[in-house]
This record gives sequence, C-alpha cells and structure tokens, in this order.
Amino acid sequence: MRGHNGSKGKQRMDFSAQIVARLKTALNMSEAEIEELIETPPEREMGDLALVCFRLAKRLRKAPQAIAAGLKETVDWPDFVTRTEVEGAYLNVFFDRAKRAKNVLETALRAGEDYGASDEGKGKTVCIDFSSINIAKPFHIGHLSSTAIGNALYRIYGFLGYACVGINHLGDWGTQFGKLIVAYKLWGDRDEIEARSVASMLGLYVRFHDEAEKDPALEDQAREWFKRIEDGDPEALEIFDWFKELTLREADRVYRLLNVRFDSYAGESFYNDKMDRVIDELRAKNLLVESDGAWVVDLEEYGMPPCLILKSDGATLYATRDIAAALYRKDTYDFHKALYVVAYQQNLHFSQWFKVVELMGYAWSKDLVHVAFGMVSMEDGTLSTRRGKVVFLEDVLGRAIDKALEVINEKSPELENKEDVARQVGVGAVVWGTVSNARIKDIVFSYDRALSFEGETAPYVQYTCARTTSVLEKAPALDGDIDYAQLCDEEAGEVVRMLEAFPAKIIEAAERCEPYIVARHIVDLAQAFNRFYYEHRIIGEDGPRMRARLMLVRAVRDCLRRGLWLLGIEAPEHM
Ligand code: ARG
Repeated sequence: MRGHNGSKGKQRMDFSAQIVARLKTALNMSEAEIEELIETPPEREMGDLALVCFRLAKRLRKAPQAIAAGLKETVDWPDFVTRTEVEGAYLNVFFDRAKRAKNVLETALRAGEDYGASDEGKGKTVCIDFSSINIAKPFHIGHLSSTAIGNALYRIYGFLGYACVGINHLGDWGTQFGKLIVAYKLWGDRDEIEARSVASMLGLYVRFHDEAEKDPALEDQAREWFKRIEDGDPEALEIFDWFKELTLREADRVYRLLNVRFDSYAGESFYNDKMDRVIDELRAKNLLVESDGAWVVDLEEYGMPPCLILKSDGATLYATRDIAAALYRKDTYDFHKALYVVAYQQNLHFSQWFKVVELMGYAWSKDLVHVAFGMVSMEDGTLSTRRGKVVFLEDVLGRAIDKALEVINEKSPELENKEDVARQVGVGAVVWGTVSNARIKDIVFSYDRALSFEGETAPYVQYTCARTTSVLEKAPALDGDIDYAQLCDEEAGEVVRMLEAFPAKIIEAAERCEPYIVARHIVDLAQAFNRFYYEHRIIGEDGPRMRARLMLVRAVRDCLRRGLWLLGIEAPEHM
C-alpha cells in the first residue's frame, strides 16, 4: 500500500511528544495523564506549550505555582527548549524556532504526501457500512452525509494502516418491491423506466398507493409478488434485478463524481439464507419471547423497547438482518471495529440490536460503533425538483458544478480545463458541507456559502493549495543545505506549528470518527499559510531565504493535498 514515514501513531516525535516523554519520567505518570496537562497557549508570547499545573495540585498536594517552579528546575528539558517561565498556575515552555522548523520540515518533506501516514492499524480491519442506499428509491440529499463521512473515514483509517472494508448495505429487501412489481405490470412502461430510472419507479409507487386506496385487492397482489421474489420465482426476480441494476447504475454516476468505491455491495437480501442462524441462536440462548404472535428480544431492563426479530407471518426485520450481517462480517473479516455511518434517527435501532448481540454473548459487540450524524437540508428549501418531491444528490452536485463554472468564468476566464476544475470545486464544496462539521449537527446547505472562495470552505483550501503549486512552479532550481533559521518569523512559525500538528489530528479524527477535525485543521493551515504569503516575499528573495521558504511552501502543498484527499476532495493544480 502506501509508504510509511517517521510519524508512527503514538510514537510520533514532534516536540510536544518529546516533552511528554520527559515529563513521564519526571512525574511518573502515564502518557495519557500527561497529555491532559498540556495546552497550547492562546498567545505566542506565552510560549509554545504550557503545563497546566493546577491539575496536579491534588495529586502532589502542593500549590500549583510551587509545582510549576519545581518542574522548571527538575525536568531534564530537551535541547530545543530555550526557556521555561512560571506564570501563575502555568509553566510556559519556549521552543527554539529554527530547531522546530527543522524537525517538522525534515519529517514532512521526506514523507511528501505521505506525511501523517502510519502503521498503527497494521493487521487490523475496520468494516465501514456507509451510504447504504435503497433500491428503487432516490439517492437523495439525506445520503450525502453517510456517503461523504463514510468515505472520509475509509480514507483516514486506510492512511493509518488499517485494512478497510467499505460496505454498501443496500436496502434491497421488503414488501415495497412487491408493490412496485404490481404497479409496473399494470401501468409501467419498460422504455420509460429505462430512461428515467428511479424517478419513474417513484411515480409507480405513488400511483400504487393512490390506486390501492380505492382497490385494496392490489395490496394482496403486492404481497403475492413479494412472496414470489422470496421464493425465487424467475419472473419476479428478473423484474426485481432489473430495478436493482437501474438503481445502481444511477447511483454509480454519483459515486464516480464523489470518488467513492465499495468493497462489498452485500445488502439486506444477501442475508436471506443467513437468518435461520440468528433465530436458532437467539432461541437456544433463551433470548426470544413471544409477543402478540411476533418474536422479540425483551430489552426493558435496559430501558429500551423490545427488538423485533420475527413478525407473526414469519418475516424477518431490519434488525434481524443487521444482526445476521454483523455475525457474517465478524466471521468473514474478523474486524477490529465495525462502523455504521447512519443518521441519528436510527439511534434506537442501533442501540437495540447492539444490545442483542451483547446478550448473545459476543464480547466483540463493544467494537460495533454507530457513527451517527445530523440532518442536511437545503437553504432555499427546495423540496420539489423536476424529479419529484425529493432532492436528488446528483442534482445538487450538478448544480454546484454549474455554479462553480460560473464563478470560474468570472474569476479566471483563461483557465485551462475549466470543466474539470468546476467539477472538482463543485463536488468539493458539497462534500465539505458535511465533512467540515461535527457529525451530530444538523446542516443547512447553501450553494453560495459553500462555493465562496473566502471563509472556511473547500474552494478556499483548494485555492490556497493551487497557490502553493503556482509558487513552486515559478521557483528557480536551488540546492544546498536548508537554513531553517530563515523560518523563525511569526508567520512561518505558525505554519510550522500547523504542519507539526497534522499527524496527530488525523489520529484524533479516526479515534473520534470525526473527519471535521482534519477539515478544521487544513483550514487553519491554509489561513496560516496565507498570512505568511501576504507578509513575506518568496520568489526573488535571496538564495537561502527563498530556499527555506520554498521548502515550507512545498510541505504546505503536500499537507493540504493530503488533507483534502482524506476528506474525499480533489485538489485542482490550477484555479
Ligand atoms: N438503507 C438504510 C436507510 O437508507 C440504511 C442502512 C444502514 N446500514 C445498516 N446496516 N443498517 O435508511
């Protein structure tokens, strides 16, 4: 897979990590405990790192100020520490800027775009259930977050050395498919459906429901057709597979735009022949109880309604299939973690069946993680589009691309590959809308805000990235040693600090399943870089200074490109 570099997970050797190591010895505490004591001071004059000593007062039974003074004297400070200062309950630590720049840039430049990669996940597999669209239903704006966040986690975990299995748990099972077949046979037109795909299937559903109100016999026919699918009747399967193929063909256009791929499309129907195992096991473990003819697992003790396993007619449910899928995934992939990137509306569903797996006695139930997220709505309140009352994700992407093209035509009319850049910017803006926020927040998407080149947006980061490329393209060839003392000004120091923190941010994003931590960080890096860029000349400076600054620019470019990539966003070379 990818090449690896010096910054390996927790053994990263940035300056803060080295301070942590020294404090570990001095205080005889764990790394995690020490990390709790460390802060980045709000102002540069307060140093590069601060120890919050009041958090030690209880443990050491001493006044914080005395603790700070004591540490100042007793810790064996590394040679890059220029001085330490006691300020109230804080001990402020100052780093040598040239040494810090050297340490960070040497590591970053050696690794190039692999800076921040690690092998902490070596030998471990993470299953990521994401996107998970429904057959014969629109791939709508509600699937954006699952698709984009899932894809980002897939890349982030992969970058940390985990083997990732991306699973599209298709919604391809349920009585609605019986209805669709009835509607198709009565009113459908093959060519029309071929041409309009899901939009046309949607129309058939609506018609079915209208007509079934007048003629309830249609419901019986629908049940019959669904039964025929279940029994493997060739005609029923032929129609159903065709619906499936059309839906996936349409979805594939979106996945291609988003640069998303899956390792498995095993959906709900894949588990048809794996249901008995779940039911038998639940029975054998005395977990199934009867309730109004149906079979459930009672969860009252855990403050939840019962988890429905079998309906009175013997049909299995969404939860039954999720349990079967989890058992199958554990057997097949032996996952270290299994993530489910699904909206918070399904919180109860996941809490329930995770609990059932725990009650079945599987210790690995603790490795099942519901990666929940909030709702996305459109600012202009678009509810109906030409395809019906749903916002299709494909339409949103298309509109963002069109608008990006308008902006480009206005700002840089002579740009080459305008269409390509518009695609990268338009898609990036939409993806950013969801990966740049804490997952649990509800989001209101606005095209204008998302496509703005100012503010904390994808185009802003992409634009900054393209700026670094154009600086590097203008640079003359220079060689010789790099004089890191040239990077001691305020602005360069800040860029170095942002570069230094990048690997730890990726790890944090993975641990918390929060891609926004990477997004936030590359915005900070882009802002720090732009401040540097406006304050300092690069091309045309004297040799050693230009050379050192160019190295900084190169590290920034690699980091921004990688950061965008981790979020599933492309970086245009020129903008
Ligand atoms: N198809 C479902 C929906 O659109 C999401 C499935 C999520 N994954 C799962 N294993 N339950 O609501």
